[in-house]
Amino acid sequence: MNFKRNIIVTGGAGFIGSHVVRLFVNKYPEYRIINVDKLTYAGNLANLKDIEDKPNYVFVKADICDFDAMYELMQKYAVDGIIHLAAESHVDRSIKDPFTFARTNVMGTLSLLQAAKLMWEAQPEKYEGKRFYHISTDEVYGALQMNRPEGIEPPFKTVASSEGHKAYGDDFFYETTKYNPHSPYSASKASSDHFVRAFHDTYGMPTIVTNCSNNYGPYQFPEKLIPLFINNIRNRKPLPVYGKGENVRDWLFVEDHARAIDVIFHEGKIAETYNIGGFNEWKNIDLIKVMIKTVDKILGNPEGHSLELITYVTDRLGHDARYAIDSTKLQKELGWEPSLQFEEGIEKTVRWYLDNQEWMDNITSGEYEKYYQDMYKGR
Ligand code: NAD
Ligand code: TYD
Repeated sequence: MNFKRNIIVTGGAGFIGSHVVRLFVNKYPEYRIINVDKLTYAGNLANLKDIEDKPNYVFVKADICDFDAMYELMQKYAVDGIIHLAAESHVDRSIKDPFTFARTNVMGTLSLLQAAKLMWEAQPEKYEGKRFYHISTDEVYGALQMNRPEGIEPPFKTVASSEGHKAYGDDFFYETTKYNPHSPYSASKASSDHFVRAFHDTYGMPTIVTNCSNNYGPYQFPEKLIPLFINNIRNRKPLPVYGKGENVRDWLFVEDHARAIDVIFHEGKIAETYNIGGFNEWKNIDLIKVMIKTVDKILGNPEGHSLELITYVTDRLGHDARYAIDSTKLQKELGWEPSLQFEEGIEKTVRWYLDNQEWMDNITSGEYEKYYQDMYKGR
Protein backbone atom coordinates (compact mmCIF):
# COMPACT_ATOMS: atom_id res chain seq x y z
CA MET A 1 0.00 0.00 0.00
CA ASN A 2 1.23 3.47 -0.83
CA PHE A 3 1.04 5.99 1.97
CA LYS A 4 0.96 9.74 1.58
CA ARG A 5 3.37 10.17 4.46
CA ASN A 6 5.59 7.89 6.53
CA ILE A 7 5.95 9.19 10.05
CA ILE A 8 8.02 7.80 12.90
CA VAL A 9 6.64 8.45 16.38
CA THR A 10 9.26 7.59 19.00
CA GLY A 11 8.10 6.59 22.48
CA GLY A 12 4.66 5.70 21.13
CA ALA A 13 4.13 2.99 23.75
CA GLY A 14 4.45 5.51 26.59
CA PHE A 15 1.87 7.83 28.09
CA ILE A 16 1.73 10.83 25.72
CA GLY A 17 3.14 8.89 22.75
CA SER A 18 0.27 6.39 22.85
CA HIS A 19 -2.28 9.22 22.61
CA VAL A 20 -0.37 10.76 19.68
CA VAL A 21 -0.15 7.41 17.86
CA ARG A 22 -3.86 6.71 18.42
CA LEU A 23 -4.87 10.18 17.17
CA PHE A 24 -2.69 10.00 14.04
CA VAL A 25 -3.55 6.38 13.14
CA ASN A 26 -7.29 7.06 13.42
CA LYS A 27 -7.35 10.55 11.91
CA TYR A 28 -4.93 9.96 9.01
CA PRO A 29 -5.50 6.53 7.40
CA GLU A 30 -3.46 7.87 4.47
CA TYR A 31 -0.34 8.11 6.69
CA ARG A 32 1.74 5.17 7.86
CA ILE A 33 2.59 5.62 11.55
CA ILE A 34 5.71 3.78 12.68
CA ASN A 35 5.90 3.54 16.46
CA VAL A 36 9.53 3.12 17.55
CA ASP A 37 9.84 2.20 21.20
CA LYS A 38 12.38 0.30 23.30
CA LEU A 39 9.65 -0.81 25.74
CA THR A 40 11.44 0.28 28.87
CA TYR A 41 9.56 -0.03 32.17
CA ALA A 42 7.41 2.91 30.95
CA GLY A 43 6.52 1.47 27.55
CA ASN A 44 3.40 -0.67 27.41
CA LEU A 45 1.81 -2.05 24.24
CA ALA A 46 -1.45 -2.52 26.14
CA ASN A 47 -1.79 1.28 25.74
CA LEU A 48 -2.43 0.72 22.02
CA LYS A 49 -4.58 -2.43 21.97
CA ASP A 50 -7.42 -0.65 20.15
CA ILE A 51 -5.32 0.35 17.12
CA GLU A 52 -2.65 -2.36 16.89
CA ASP A 53 -4.36 -4.13 13.95
CA LYS A 54 -4.90 -1.03 11.81
CA PRO A 55 -3.27 -1.28 8.35
CA ASN A 56 -1.49 2.07 8.72
CA TYR A 57 0.19 1.18 12.04
CA VAL A 58 3.59 -0.47 12.47
CA PHE A 59 5.37 -1.19 15.74
CA VAL A 60 9.15 -1.52 15.88
CA LYS A 61 10.93 -2.41 19.12
CA ALA A 62 14.21 -0.49 18.99
CA ASP A 63 16.46 1.81 20.98
CA ILE A 64 16.71 5.37 19.66
CA CYS A 65 20.37 5.40 20.76
CA ASP A 66 21.09 2.71 18.16
CA PHE A 67 22.11 4.96 15.26
CA ASP A 68 22.41 2.13 12.69
CA ALA A 69 18.96 0.80 13.54
CA MET A 70 17.44 4.29 13.29
CA TYR A 71 19.12 5.01 9.95
CA GLU A 72 18.03 1.65 8.52
CA LEU A 73 14.46 2.11 9.71
CA MET A 74 14.20 5.60 8.22
CA GLN A 75 15.45 4.28 4.87
CA LYS A 76 13.20 1.23 4.93
CA TYR A 77 10.04 3.30 5.32
CA ALA A 78 11.25 6.41 3.42
CA VAL A 79 10.37 8.44 6.48
CA ASP A 80 9.49 12.10 5.92
CA GLY A 81 8.30 13.05 9.40
CA ILE A 82 9.58 12.33 12.90
CA ILE A 83 7.65 13.12 16.07
CA HIS A 84 10.08 12.47 18.88
CA LEU A 85 8.69 11.65 22.32
CA ALA A 86 10.90 8.76 23.52
CA ALA A 87 12.62 9.76 26.72
CA GLU A 88 13.27 8.95 30.32
CA SER A 89 10.62 11.16 31.87
CA HIS A 90 10.49 10.87 35.66
CA VAL A 91 12.31 13.49 37.77
CA ASP A 92 12.72 11.21 40.83
CA ARG A 93 14.42 8.54 38.71
CA SER A 94 16.71 11.16 37.20
CA ILE A 95 17.87 12.14 40.69
CA LYS A 96 18.84 8.51 41.39
CA ASP A 97 20.28 7.65 37.96
CA PRO A 98 21.21 10.68 35.81
CA PHE A 99 23.32 8.62 33.37
CA THR A 100 20.32 6.84 31.85
CA PHE A 101 18.72 10.26 31.26
CA ALA A 102 21.78 11.64 29.48
CA ARG A 103 22.02 8.50 27.37
CA THR A 104 18.42 8.32 26.18
CA ASN A 105 17.42 11.96 26.17
CA VAL A 106 20.63 13.49 24.83
CA MET A 107 22.42 10.76 22.87
CA GLY A 108 19.15 9.22 21.68
CA THR A 109 17.94 12.54 20.29
CA LEU A 110 21.32 13.13 18.64
CA SER A 111 21.25 9.70 17.04
CA LEU A 112 17.80 10.41 15.53
CA LEU A 113 18.87 13.85 14.31
CA GLN A 114 22.00 12.51 12.66
CA ALA A 115 20.18 9.58 11.02
CA ALA A 116 17.45 11.89 9.64
CA LYS A 117 20.04 14.40 8.42
CA LEU A 118 22.08 11.76 6.54
CA MET A 119 19.01 10.27 4.93
CA TRP A 120 17.30 13.51 3.94
CA GLU A 121 20.48 15.21 2.70
CA ALA A 122 21.07 12.34 0.29
CA GLN A 123 17.66 12.75 -1.35
CA PRO A 124 17.20 14.98 -4.41
CA GLU A 125 14.53 17.08 -2.71
CA LYS A 126 16.60 17.15 0.52
CA TYR A 127 14.65 18.75 3.39
CA GLU A 128 11.64 19.74 1.26
CA GLY A 129 8.43 18.45 2.88
CA LYS A 130 10.31 16.94 5.83
CA ARG A 131 9.83 17.61 9.51
CA PHE A 132 11.67 16.71 12.72
CA TYR A 133 9.40 17.59 15.63
CA HIS A 134 10.86 17.32 19.13
CA ILE A 135 8.54 17.15 22.16
CA SER A 136 9.91 18.79 25.28
CA THR A 137 8.89 20.07 28.68
CA ASP A 138 8.41 23.41 30.42
CA GLU A 139 10.82 22.17 33.11
CA VAL A 140 13.76 23.32 30.96
CA TYR A 141 12.89 26.92 31.91
CA GLY A 142 13.61 26.30 35.60
CA ALA A 143 11.29 27.45 38.35
CA LEU A 144 9.09 30.52 38.81
CA GLN A 145 8.54 32.24 42.13
CA MET A 146 5.22 32.33 43.92
CA ASN A 147 4.80 36.04 44.48
CA ARG A 148 1.14 36.77 43.91
CA PRO A 149 -1.20 36.88 46.87
CA GLU A 150 -3.80 34.15 46.60
CA GLY A 151 -7.15 35.09 45.15
CA ILE A 152 -5.99 37.64 42.60
CA GLU A 153 -7.41 37.10 39.13
CA PRO A 154 -4.80 35.86 36.68
CA PRO A 155 -4.32 37.69 33.37
CA PHE A 156 -5.36 34.68 31.28
CA LYS A 157 -8.06 32.04 31.28
CA THR A 158 -8.78 29.12 28.97
CA VAL A 159 -11.24 26.26 28.82
CA ALA A 160 -8.76 24.19 30.84
CA SER A 161 -8.51 26.71 33.70
CA SER A 162 -10.07 25.27 36.84
CA GLU A 163 -13.05 26.91 38.50
CA GLY A 164 -11.81 29.73 40.74
CA HIS A 165 -8.57 29.64 38.74
CA LYS A 166 -5.57 31.35 40.35
CA ALA A 167 -2.12 32.26 39.18
CA TYR A 168 0.46 31.95 41.94
CA GLY A 169 2.88 34.44 40.46
CA ASP A 170 2.94 37.29 38.01
CA ASP A 171 5.46 35.67 35.70
CA PHE A 172 5.09 32.83 33.20
CA PHE A 173 7.29 30.74 30.94
CA TYR A 174 7.36 32.32 27.48
CA GLU A 175 9.02 30.95 24.33
CA THR A 176 11.72 33.56 24.95
CA THR A 177 12.39 32.60 28.58
CA LYS A 178 16.03 31.62 29.13
CA TYR A 179 16.74 27.97 29.85
CA ASN A 180 17.63 27.29 33.48
CA PRO A 181 17.05 23.58 34.19
CA HIS A 182 17.57 22.27 37.72
CA SER A 183 16.93 18.52 37.75
CA PRO A 184 18.97 15.94 35.82
CA TYR A 185 15.76 15.23 33.86
CA SER A 186 15.25 18.84 32.81
CA ALA A 187 18.99 19.29 32.14
CA SER A 188 18.91 16.33 29.76
CA LYS A 189 15.78 17.64 28.01
CA ALA A 190 17.31 21.13 27.73
CA SER A 191 20.41 19.62 26.16
CA SER A 192 18.33 17.68 23.64
CA ASP A 193 16.34 20.85 22.77
CA HIS A 194 19.64 22.67 22.10
CA PHE A 195 20.81 19.86 19.81
CA VAL A 196 17.58 20.00 17.83
CA ARG A 197 17.88 23.77 17.34
CA ALA A 198 21.59 23.41 16.53
CA PHE A 199 20.72 20.99 13.70
CA HIS A 200 18.43 23.63 12.23
CA ASP A 201 20.89 26.48 12.67
CA THR A 202 23.89 24.51 11.38
CA TYR A 203 22.50 22.20 8.70
CA GLY A 204 19.12 23.76 7.93
CA MET A 205 17.19 20.75 9.27
CA PRO A 206 13.42 21.41 9.36
CA THR A 207 12.97 21.21 13.13
CA ILE A 208 10.28 22.34 15.57
CA VAL A 209 10.41 22.21 19.39
CA THR A 210 7.46 22.43 21.77
CA ASN A 211 7.58 22.76 25.54
CA CYS A 212 4.51 21.53 27.39
CA SER A 213 3.30 21.68 30.98
CA ASN A 214 2.40 18.64 33.15
CA ASN A 215 0.08 16.21 31.38
CA TYR A 216 -2.58 14.04 33.02
CA GLY A 217 -5.06 11.46 31.74
CA PRO A 218 -5.38 7.74 30.90
CA TYR A 219 -2.33 5.45 30.41
CA GLN A 220 0.13 7.43 32.56
CA PHE A 221 2.68 5.29 34.37
CA PRO A 222 1.70 5.19 38.07
CA GLU A 223 4.93 6.67 39.40
CA LYS A 224 3.64 10.15 38.44
CA LEU A 225 1.54 12.09 40.93
CA ILE A 226 -1.98 11.70 39.52
CA PRO A 227 -2.19 7.97 38.64
CA LEU A 228 -0.08 7.06 41.69
CA PHE A 229 -2.42 8.85 44.05
CA ILE A 230 -5.63 7.59 42.40
CA ASN A 231 -4.33 4.03 42.74
CA ASN A 232 -3.18 4.53 46.32
CA ILE A 233 -6.54 6.02 47.33
CA ARG A 234 -8.30 3.04 45.77
CA ASN A 235 -6.00 0.65 47.70
CA ARG A 236 -6.05 2.75 50.89
CA LYS A 237 -2.29 3.25 50.81
CA PRO A 238 -0.45 6.37 52.08
CA LEU A 239 -0.27 9.37 49.73
CA PRO A 240 3.33 10.63 49.91
CA VAL A 241 3.16 14.43 49.60
CA TYR A 242 6.65 15.90 49.06
CA GLY A 243 7.54 18.74 51.43
CA LYS A 244 4.53 20.85 52.34
CA GLY A 245 2.62 20.14 49.13
CA GLU A 246 2.92 23.83 48.20
CA ASN A 247 4.64 23.38 44.84
CA VAL A 248 2.65 24.55 41.84
CA ARG A 249 2.25 22.73 38.52
CA ASP A 250 0.26 23.72 35.42
CA TRP A 251 -1.86 20.75 34.26
CA LEU A 252 -3.11 19.89 30.77
CA PHE A 253 -5.27 16.94 29.66
CA VAL A 254 -3.13 14.60 27.55
CA GLU A 255 -5.55 14.48 24.59
CA ASP A 256 -5.33 18.26 24.36
CA HIS A 257 -1.55 17.95 24.16
CA ALA A 258 -1.90 15.31 21.40
CA ARG A 259 -4.21 17.68 19.46
CA ALA A 260 -1.66 20.47 19.83
CA ILE A 261 1.04 18.15 18.46
CA ASP A 262 -1.18 17.37 15.46
CA VAL A 263 -1.76 21.07 14.72
CA ILE A 264 1.91 22.01 15.18
CA PHE A 265 3.21 19.06 13.15
CA HIS A 266 1.05 20.18 10.22
CA GLU A 267 0.95 23.96 10.57
CA GLY A 268 3.78 25.00 12.87
CA LYS A 269 6.57 27.10 11.40
CA ILE A 270 9.96 25.48 10.92
CA ALA A 271 12.57 26.52 13.52
CA GLU A 272 9.90 27.88 15.85
CA THR A 273 9.23 27.02 19.48
CA TYR A 274 5.68 26.78 20.83
CA ASN A 275 4.73 26.58 24.51
CA ILE A 276 1.75 24.33 25.23
CA GLY A 277 -0.32 24.72 28.41
CA GLY A 278 -3.81 25.42 29.66
CA PHE A 279 -3.32 28.26 32.19
CA ASN A 280 -4.29 25.81 34.89
CA GLU A 281 -2.07 26.14 37.95
CA TRP A 282 -2.58 24.02 41.03
CA LYS A 283 -0.79 23.66 44.34
CA ASN A 284 -0.08 19.95 44.78
CA ILE A 285 -2.02 19.74 48.03
CA ASP A 286 -5.14 21.35 46.53
CA LEU A 287 -4.99 19.04 43.53
CA ILE A 288 -4.59 16.04 45.85
CA LYS A 289 -7.73 17.10 47.74
CA VAL A 290 -9.67 17.28 44.46
CA MET A 291 -8.50 13.74 43.58
CA ILE A 292 -9.50 12.46 47.02
CA LYS A 293 -12.92 14.06 46.73
CA THR A 294 -13.47 12.65 43.24
CA VAL A 295 -12.33 9.09 44.05
CA ASP A 296 -14.35 9.01 47.30
CA LYS A 297 -17.45 10.25 45.47
CA ILE A 298 -17.17 7.63 42.72
CA LEU A 299 -16.43 4.80 45.17
CA GLY A 300 -19.37 5.85 47.34
CA ASN A 301 -17.19 6.73 50.35
CA PRO A 302 -18.30 9.49 52.74
CA GLU A 303 -16.82 12.92 51.87
CA GLY A 304 -13.34 13.33 53.34
CA HIS A 305 -12.96 9.58 53.95
CA SER A 306 -9.50 9.34 52.32
CA LEU A 307 -8.01 12.59 53.62
CA GLU A 308 -6.33 10.59 56.40
CA LEU A 309 -4.11 8.92 53.75
CA ILE A 310 -2.22 12.19 53.16
CA THR A 311 1.33 11.64 54.45
CA TYR A 312 3.90 14.43 54.31
CA VAL A 313 7.32 13.01 53.39
CA THR A 314 10.84 14.35 52.81
CA ASP A 315 10.89 16.82 49.94
CA ARG A 316 12.30 16.00 46.50
CA LEU A 317 15.89 17.31 46.11
CA GLY A 318 15.93 20.58 44.17
CA HIS A 319 12.11 20.56 43.97
CA ASP A 320 11.04 23.37 41.59
CA ALA A 321 8.54 25.74 43.24
CA ARG A 322 6.28 26.69 40.37
CA TYR A 323 5.76 26.01 36.67
CA ALA A 324 3.33 28.11 34.63
CA ILE A 325 3.19 28.21 30.85
CA ASP A 326 2.02 31.09 28.68
CA SER A 327 0.63 29.41 25.54
CA THR A 328 -0.73 32.60 23.95
CA LYS A 329 1.50 32.23 20.87
CA LEU A 330 0.10 28.79 20.01
CA GLN A 331 -3.46 29.92 20.65
CA LYS A 332 -3.13 33.09 18.55
CA GLU A 333 -1.01 31.79 15.68
CA LEU A 334 -2.39 28.30 15.22
CA GLY A 335 -5.82 28.58 16.85
CA TRP A 336 -5.29 25.66 19.27
CA GLU A 337 -7.19 25.69 22.55
CA PRO A 338 -7.61 23.14 25.30
CA SER A 339 -10.99 21.40 25.04
CA LEU A 340 -11.50 20.17 28.56
CA GLN A 341 -11.99 22.04 31.78
CA PHE A 342 -9.79 20.74 34.58
CA GLU A 343 -12.45 19.42 36.97
CA GLU A 344 -14.04 17.49 34.07
CA GLY A 345 -10.64 16.17 33.05
CA ILE A 346 -9.86 14.94 36.55
CA GLU A 347 -13.21 13.19 36.87
CA LYS A 348 -12.71 11.54 33.47
CA THR A 349 -9.19 10.48 34.48
CA VAL A 350 -10.24 9.06 37.87
CA ARG A 351 -13.05 7.09 36.20
CA TRP A 352 -10.66 5.73 33.59
CA TYR A 353 -8.19 4.41 36.20
CA LEU A 354 -10.98 2.93 38.33
CA ASP A 355 -12.55 1.29 35.27
CA ASN A 356 -9.21 -0.07 34.05
CA GLN A 357 -7.94 -1.72 37.18
CA GLU A 358 -6.48 -4.62 35.23
CA TRP A 359 -4.24 -2.23 33.27
CA MET A 360 -3.06 -0.73 36.56
CA ASP A 361 -2.68 -4.05 38.40
CA ASN A 362 -0.59 -5.51 35.56
CA ILE A 363 1.88 -2.67 36.03
CA THR A 364 1.90 -2.37 39.80
CA SER A 365 2.22 -6.08 40.55
CA GLY A 366 5.58 -7.85 40.55
CA GLU A 367 8.78 -6.02 39.80
CA TYR A 368 7.40 -2.50 39.93
CA GLU A 369 6.01 -2.99 43.44
CA LYS A 370 9.56 -3.73 44.67
CA TYR A 371 10.94 -0.64 42.90
CA TYR A 372 8.20 1.49 44.43
CA GLN A 373 8.89 0.20 47.96
CA ASP A 374 12.64 0.91 47.54
CA MET A 375 11.94 4.35 46.12
CA TYR A 376 9.89 5.40 49.13
CA LYS A 377 12.09 3.76 51.76
CA GLY A 378 13.41 6.52 53.96
CA ARG A 379 11.10 9.26 52.68
P1 NAD B 1 6.75 7.99 29.33
O1 NAD B 1 7.86 7.75 30.30
O2 NAD B 1 5.36 7.61 29.70
O3 NAD B 1 7.08 7.25 27.95
C1 NAD B 1 8.35 7.25 27.37
C2 NAD B 1 8.38 6.20 26.27
O4 NAD B 1 9.68 6.24 25.66
C3 NAD B 1 8.17 4.77 26.78
O5 NAD B 1 7.28 4.08 25.96
C4 NAD B 1 9.57 4.16 26.69
O6 NAD B 1 9.56 2.74 26.47
C5 NAD B 1 10.17 4.91 25.52
N1 NAD B 1 11.63 4.94 25.56
C6 NAD B 1 12.41 5.29 26.62
N2 NAD B 1 13.72 5.17 26.28
C7 NAD B 1 13.75 4.76 24.99
C8 NAD B 1 14.80 4.48 24.08
N3 NAD B 1 16.10 4.58 24.44
N4 NAD B 1 14.49 4.11 22.81
C9 NAD B 1 13.18 4.00 22.43
N5 NAD B 1 12.15 4.22 23.26
C10 NAD B 1 12.43 4.61 24.53
O7 NAD B 1 6.85 9.53 28.97
P2 NAD B 1 5.70 10.60 28.67
O8 NAD B 1 5.22 11.16 29.95
O9 NAD B 1 4.74 10.03 27.72
O10 NAD B 1 6.56 11.74 27.94
C11 NAD B 1 6.78 11.69 26.53
C12 NAD B 1 7.61 12.89 26.11
O11 NAD B 1 6.92 14.08 26.44
C13 NAD B 1 8.97 12.95 26.80
O12 NAD B 1 9.91 13.41 25.86
C14 NAD B 1 8.76 13.99 27.90
O13 NAD B 1 9.97 14.64 28.20
C15 NAD B 1 7.76 14.92 27.25
N6 NAD B 1 6.85 15.63 28.17
C16 NAD B 1 6.16 14.95 29.14
C17 NAD B 1 5.28 15.64 29.96
C18 NAD B 1 4.45 14.92 31.01
O14 NAD B 1 3.75 15.59 31.79
N7 NAD B 1 4.45 13.60 31.07
C19 NAD B 1 5.12 17.02 29.82
C20 NAD B 1 5.85 17.69 28.82
C21 NAD B 1 6.71 16.97 27.99
P1 TYD C 1 5.33 14.42 38.91
O1 TYD C 1 4.03 13.79 38.54
O2 TYD C 1 6.49 13.52 39.25
O3 TYD C 1 5.70 15.44 37.74
P2 TYD C 1 6.89 16.56 37.67
O4 TYD C 1 7.89 16.27 38.73
O5 TYD C 1 7.44 16.33 36.30
O6 TYD C 1 6.20 17.88 37.83
O7 TYD C 1 5.08 15.36 40.17
C1 TYD C 1 4.14 16.42 40.16
C2 TYD C 1 4.26 17.17 41.47
O8 TYD C 1 3.85 16.30 42.55
C3 TYD C 1 5.70 17.57 41.80
O9 TYD C 1 5.66 18.85 42.45
C4 TYD C 1 6.16 16.51 42.79
C5 TYD C 1 4.89 16.11 43.51
N1 TYD C 1 4.83 14.69 43.95
C6 TYD C 1 4.49 14.39 45.28
O10 TYD C 1 4.27 15.28 46.13
N2 TYD C 1 4.44 13.08 45.66
C7 TYD C 1 4.68 12.05 44.78
O11 TYD C 1 4.62 10.86 45.19
C8 TYD C 1 4.99 12.38 43.43
C9 TYD C 1 5.27 11.30 42.42
C10 TYD C 1 5.05 13.72 43.06
